[in-house]
Amino acid sequence: MTASGENVASLLLAWYDAHARDLPWRVRPGDPAPDPYRVWLSEVMLQQTTVAAVKPYFAAFTNRWPTVGALAAAPEEEVMAAWAGLGYYSRARNLVKCARAVGERGGFPDSETELRKLPGLGDYTAAAVAAIAFGRRAVVVDANVERVVARLFAIAEPLPGARKAIRAAADAITPRQRAGDFAQAMMDLGATICTARDPRCLLCPLSAGCEARRSGDPACFPVKAPKKAKPQRVGTVWWIAREGRVWLVRRPGSGMLGGMRALPDDGWSARNDGCGEPPLAGEWREAGAVRHGFTHFDLDLRVMVLADRAAPSGEGEWWPIEELESAGLPTLFAKAARRALAD
Ligand code: ADE
Repeated sequence: MTASGENVASLLLAWYDAHARDLPWRVRPGDPAPDPYRVWLSEVMLQQTTVAAVKPYFAAFTNRWPTVGALAAAPEEEVMAAWAGLGYYSRARNLVKCARAVGERGGFPDSETELRKLPGLGDYTAAAVAAIAFGRRAVVVDANVERVVARLFAIAEPLPGARKAIRAAADAITPRQRAGDFAQAMMDLGATICTARDPRCLLCPLSAGCEARRSGDPACFPVKAPKKAKPQRVGTVWWIAREGRVWLVRRPGSGMLGGMRALPDDGWSARNDGCGEPPLAGEWREAGAVRHGFTHFDLDLRVMVLADRAAPSGEGEWWPIEELESAGLPTLFAKAARRALAD
């Protein structure tokens, strides 16, 4: 048997009715539609981030800002600080912009086309919110869905070129009814059964029609083009402490980790190493280095320490070291701070 649209949808939805993961932003299959705010917020958080990492952030955000109106009224810096650690910080800036746009228009639009016009909503998020919150038929393709579809149809073309074929195949199996449940069922199947390395085909509701399973080696789908080596960058971060406080700056609004609070650094970027020039003269001591992987490059960041000095020129603030957790430092700078403190 090969996978036909109707067949896949009905098998998968029956499986979802019995095995849907219980997640804080979800309603049970058959319950009234979920709050679009919670759906949108979770989908933005879940891009590039695991369910386990998102859960505490989702709880913190919805406690503090229970509605899209509350989030729209929040100062951007507070939202950025609450986002710290989730990564891909342009998502947080767009989150505030989007909440404000939704507030101005009096609520979330209920179609994929209108959702796509909101700040920060790409094809994936617009489709996911349209399907999950509004029950619209939309083709929702994230990395899990991509893997399930590539296997179901044994799509041999390597990624990223295969995306068009995968999307067309996903479109062919997406049902008219229950498109939101279908999308989430595909995600759950990808996350729990049709996993990247070790697919559990014996438990899979779609195994009878799966071409990749028939091929004997389902884990080799989706085929991936060989990865390019990531460039290795080096930079330096400056820990300037005085009377139990450390000097923090705010990064420029655009660019990497834009708008986030940070330790001063030497201007490293995805394209260039840092200049290595300290912001103050003095007897700097090296406290070691931290490594961090970004999407397009890896960074080795040297941590240099200077005690009991005046502030460097330029804007910044003396932040109590004991309260560093609440500064909302991105993970890279939090790691560097731990390195400096362990020195
Ligand atoms: N990943 C992205 N969106 C998701 C959702 N709604 N449920 C489970 N995993 C997801």
